[in-house]
Amino acid sequence: MSNNLKIYVAGHRGMVGSAIVRQLQAKGYKNIVTRTHAELDLCNQQAVAQFFQEEKPDEVYLAAAKVGGIHANNTYPAEFIYQNLMMEANVIHQAFESGVKKLLFLGSSCIYPKMAPQPMAEDTLLTGKLEPTNEPYAIAKIAGIKLCESYNRQYGRSHGVDYRSVMPTNLYGPGDNYHPENSHVIPALIRRFHEAKEQNAPEVVIWGTGTPMREFLYVDDMASASLFVMELDKNIYDFHTRPMQSHINVGFGSDITIMDLVKIIAKVVGYDGKLIFDAEKPDGAPKKLMNSNLLAEIGWRPKVNLFDGLEVTYKFFLEEK
Ligand SMILES: NC(=O)c1ccc[n+]([C@@H]2O[C@H](COP(=O)([O-])OP(=O)(O)OC[C@H]3O[C@@H](n4cnc5c(N)ncnc54)[C@H](OP(=O)(O)O)[C@@H]3O)[C@@H](O)[C@H]2O)c1
Repeated sequence: MSNNLKIYVAGHRGMVGSAIVRQLQAKGYKNIVTRTHAELDLCNQQAVAQFFQEEKPDEVYLAAAKVGGIHANNTYPAEFIYQNLMMEANVIHQAFESGVKKLLFLGSSCIYPKMAPQPMAEDTLLTGKLEPTNEPYAIAKIAGIKLCESYNRQYGRSHGVDYRSVMPTNLYGPGDNYHPENSHVIPALIRRFHEAKEQNAPEVVIWGTGTPMREFLYVDDMASASLFVMELDKNIYDFHTRPMQSHINVGFGSDITIMDLVKIIAKVVGYDGKLIFDAEKPDGAPKKLMNSNLLAEIGWRPKVNLFDGLEVTYKFFLEEK
């Protein structure tokens, strides 16, 4: 693998995209192409076509997406399905048109059916109904996988196209979104505990019983897995995947209860008030864990444990806010 390759990272200002750029730079890649959302709207077909024809990158990491928690997904379903479909279709097709041979698409664990057996393995895709709250987003992500597979199937031999997909579990780390309504569980809790500490609040109320189990992966581990999958020898990738089931899960490999997560975050932030779990509020699915055995078999495992990852994340939160 030459580090003179010209690599386009779409979404380089996002949490995952910025981590991918950091890892590429750390590995000595010098020719990294980026555009902010203001410079290049990936929903704009003409602009994306022009960008690819001018830049002609060798490889693409597609980490741009419209991303959000349950509230945002439920409130803006049209934006979630439209923008994600457009970004994927534009980037993947224009990458192909400009001669890009290698591309990595980032999906999400929400592609799996709501009732998929736990831990959720790659082969449970399209075996049942999706969780209704983020179905539009999940459908767009499934379309992204199928775009990659279809270009591989139609143009793999003739044009050497090799487009791969990874499905991350819940991620956290530097660069996360702390918006009060649109954020995921870890940034939302960091913000609430930080504010409670600053205001000397005697207690923090957390929705639900605290018993649901969730999996979390530090974003630098996700970036490392992304480079690992992108750089995998084609024979190895092909051996472990199938033309119509080519996506690979990227998880931590184990989950924890929300109650334990809350306790760790309170400790990391330094909040020592009372923690109250409001059992009247909805809990969500009892368990959501990815089966990441495939990636482990191929040879990648995460390095950063939750406590260490959260300590770094909170440091960045204090710097960023
Ligand atoms: N975060 C997670 O827990 C998680 C979990 C599973 C999968 N993923 C996947 O990982 C990928 C990256 O997620 P992330 O957490 O890094 O998200 P993020 O922090 O929100 O970053 C997404 C990036 O995409 C850019 N973007 C959005 N719409 C765009 C458009 N129309 N044109 C150009 N750029 C656009 C955003 O720019 P602006 O902010 O300027 O709009 C932002 O820089 C996504 O595919 C996501 O589905 C994330």
